[in-house]
Amino acid sequence: MLDESFETPVLPAPVPHHGRLPLFRFFRILRDNMIATYSAEAYESEIVERKIFGRCRFIVSQPAAIKRVLLDNAAGYRKTEITRRILEPGLGKGLITSEGETWRRHRRTMSASFGHGSISAYTPIMSGAAQELAAEWSSLGAGAAVDVARAMSKVTLHIISRTMFSTDSDVMGDIIEQGAGRYQAEMRPNIMDFLGFPAWLAGLPRFGIADRALRKFDAQIDRLIASRSSGSGGPRDLLSRLIAARDEQTGGGMTAEELRDHVITIFMAGHETTAMAMTWIWYLLSQHPREEAKLHAELASVLGGRPPTDEDLGKLPYTRMVIEESMRLYPPVHTIAREALADDVLSGRRVPKGSSVLIVPWVLHRHRLLWQDPGRFLPERFSATCCAARPRFSYLPFGDGRRICIGAAFAMAEATVLLATLAQRYRLQLVPGHPVEPLGLITLRARYGMQMTPTPRA
Ligand code: HEM
Repeated sequence: MLDESFETPVLPAPVPHHGRLPLFRFFRILRDNMIATYSAEAYESEIVERKIFGRCRFIVSQPAAIKRVLLDNAAGYRKTEITRRILEPGLGKGLITSEGETWRRHRRTMSASFGHGSISAYTPIMSGAAQELAAEWSSLGAGAAVDVARAMSKVTLHIISRTMFSTDSDVMGDIIEQGAGRYQAEMRPNIMDFLGFPAWLAGLPRFGIADRALRKFDAQIDRLIASRSSGSGGPRDLLSRLIAARDEQTGGGMTAEELRDHVITIFMAGHETTAMAMTWIWYLLSQHPREEAKLHAELASVLGGRPPTDEDLGKLPYTRMVIEESMRLYPPVHTIAREALADDVLSGRRVPKGSSVLIVPWVLHRHRLLWQDPGRFLPERFSATCCAARPRFSYLPFGDGRRICIGAAFAMAEATVLLATLAQRYRLQLVPGHPVEPLGLITLRARYGMQMTPTPRA
């Protein structure tokens, strides 16, 4: 079924198949690598429809239709049942999985903790963690390779742990590191999810795994929340900010249970995504020496070898363009899914109530109607002029509309600090022959990790 005649992408990506996969193959591929289920037609159509067990599933790539789903008619959609089944056992009812008035109140309450004012308090933590990693690499023997996917996952976990819990970070980081990878590997949608079996039956093995992996974490968070709430005056970390946060409209705060679900959501949503973005950035730079040289030139002229501070972040436009272009080609959240709460019309097509509507950054960012030469790595696409010429809702690494990623500014600051600090000290080269394959699980991972050699820069 795979069609070799489809123009081979310049950069690694599964070769899309033409037409419809038979259902049994669709489910096998879905479990293995979700991005390989998207057909070649999706990359050149505004909307693609498929019926699965009598229910419609649309892939929508027309910016105006995406705007309708995420913004103008957002109240007519909610997260899908399958998203809830996959994420809720691990994340509880944090921002990602909650809906309606509860979501609105919590989003309002938490916004300030992720605003620019708060981010500047977190950048020294990001910088410290980046410098520690640089120091760690300096003790590697000449020519030694590291799995950059793993290294990025560790450093982003350190950053979110220290941001959230200050000094208590290490024990929490260890628990999450053990739990999160396994959780993601096991929590894949299966045919029973689509058939609507109860979650506990559809996911019997997964159920236990999610539960065991995260129960330890819950207990630790409860302990920390209790000790901070008792007024012992803990540090001004993200946890303290969330405990102190009040809804500007009602003056209410969050209960201990709500806080715990938010904390775990922020951990899971906030570390793996940035780690995967960084992994693909290093890979792309290693394949594009011209762009890498331009990045180094900017870093040398603005920073001259020192680590970036909060004030520097706005002065590194090419660095930002490299990050944005990398997330175009390898968006860490490859698919954004919604369910229609009522009949709707998208791109002139009737969308019946109950349909799944998929907005797929993986497809959208490589769409032939929206991008010229979509398989090419070209950071200049993100210059101010090019961005202004593009329709909004054609580039969505952080989603858009009212449920846009609350951590977007955090993630951009973190990626900039990591890239600027490490690229000034090292060139990362892919180990020759190392296989590179994007793998669409909950996030977009590298199937075989990313073995690279950090070479100190003269
Ligand atoms: C490169 C890194 C990141 C990417 C690509 C990313 C992507 C996304 C996307 C696409 C959504 C919207 C999902 C939807 O509409 O269904 C989202 C939501 C969310 N993200 Fe991120 N994210 C990143 C980093 C972070 C960080 C660092 C945090 C926290 C520190 C975070 C916390 C969240 C939360 C809590 C939500 C749910 C927001 C809501 O529904 O109100 N993310 N993210």
